Amino acid sequence: MAKRIQFSRHGGSDVLELVDQPAAEPGPQEVRVRNRAIGLNFIDTYYRSGLYQPPSLPSGLGSEGAGEVEAVGSAVTHLKVGDRVAYGTGPLGAYGELHVLPAQHLVKLPESISFEQAAALMLKGLTVQYLLRQTYRVDAGQTILWHAAAGGVGLIACQWARALGVQLIGTVSSPEKAALAKANGAWATIDYSREDVVQRVLELTGGAKCPVVYDSVGKDTWERSLDCVAPRGLLVSFGNASGAVTGVNLGVLAQKGSLYVTRPTLGNYANNAENLQAMADELFGLVTSGAIKVEIGRRYALAEAAQAQDALSGRQTTGSTILIP
Ligand SMILES: NC(=O)c1ccc[n+]([C@@H]2O[C@H](COP(=O)([O-])OP(=O)(O)OC[C@H]3O[C@@H](n4cnc5c(N)ncnc54)[C@H](OP(=O)(O)O)[C@@H]3O)[C@@H](O)[C@H]2O)c1
Repeated sequence: MAKRIQFSRHGGSDVLELVDQPAAEPGPQEVRVRNRAIGLNFIDTYYRSGLYQPPSLPSGLGSEGAGEVEAVGSAVTHLKVGDRVAYGTGPLGAYGELHVLPAQHLVKLPESISFEQAAALMLKGLTVQYLLRQTYRVDAGQTILWHAAAGGVGLIACQWARALGVQLIGTVSSPEKAALAKANGAWATIDYSREDVVQRVLELTGGAKCPVVYDSVGKDTWERSLDCVAPRGLLVSFGNASGAVTGVNLGVLAQKGSLYVTRPTLGNYANNAENLQAMADELFGLVTSGAIKVEIGRRYALAEAAQAQDALSGRQTTGSTILIP
């Protein structure tokens, strides 16, 4: 038997329950991983609340983790029992001692990266990879705006931008978070709970605004974000921490300077084993070289997943949070 967190109805963190389940055998294309560390992500709260729909209920939760291969399906060729692996794009079910998932979602972990580091950076780091290198390929010398810069995805973005010579303006909600974002490479910070974001971006960019704005806060920042994008620039809306953006009048994009908007998701970029491996190689390279250091702000036991999610939703966490099975 193995422990896992599941939920049978949508709601607050109280719907999460710790249950015992028999260890499932992997199908031909699948692998069973014994998790050593599990990543906590905001998307987990969307599936729990019902903003995003899981394939069925009861459902497992979580998409990010690292551990050892314990069993492999008959058609799996690139992995064997005992391999150290990590994942950040798999089907729901990472919140558990064991996770059975398609082998194409797994990458081998370099010896230089620990299970905890991997669980803290796979989903979040791959997200930064596609956002900064694919959705919009930022160039040295550019000034960009990134919301929630002291969060899990945010602190990796600060470091990645610094490594590329990009000036990242990070929004945060407290002086402590501002200091953390700065220490991780943000060029400037704006406390969006106290300061006028649009005014500050105009000042910091000499009136030019940003060629690209990365917004994962959603509902609360959408309007302000549009006003921070330079004419014919791009707004990347990639999350809903404050709620989903709905009811958009497309005409607003013309009024604000013929803007572009995209609503991307990691699964469409790491959409096959080859792309996933290439993205992971770039991420692991930056971690191994020391350009990106993984900031694990908090660790919780698997059984404390509800408390961990409440801390994340309550804006109490910084950097990455991991669960230990
Ligand atoms: N599309 C994709 O492919 C993709 C992939 C990964 C993550 N994401 C998105 O990226 C975002 C960051 O994910 P994460 O797991 O690293 O979380 P996180 O950034 O560690 O936590 C979310 C942060 O959002 C900020 N926030 C602003 N308004 C908020 C509100 N009303 N309630 C809660 N938080 C609020 C908070 O920072 P402040 O207190 O500083 O405001 C909070 O710490 C999430 O929106 C997630 O869905 C998208």
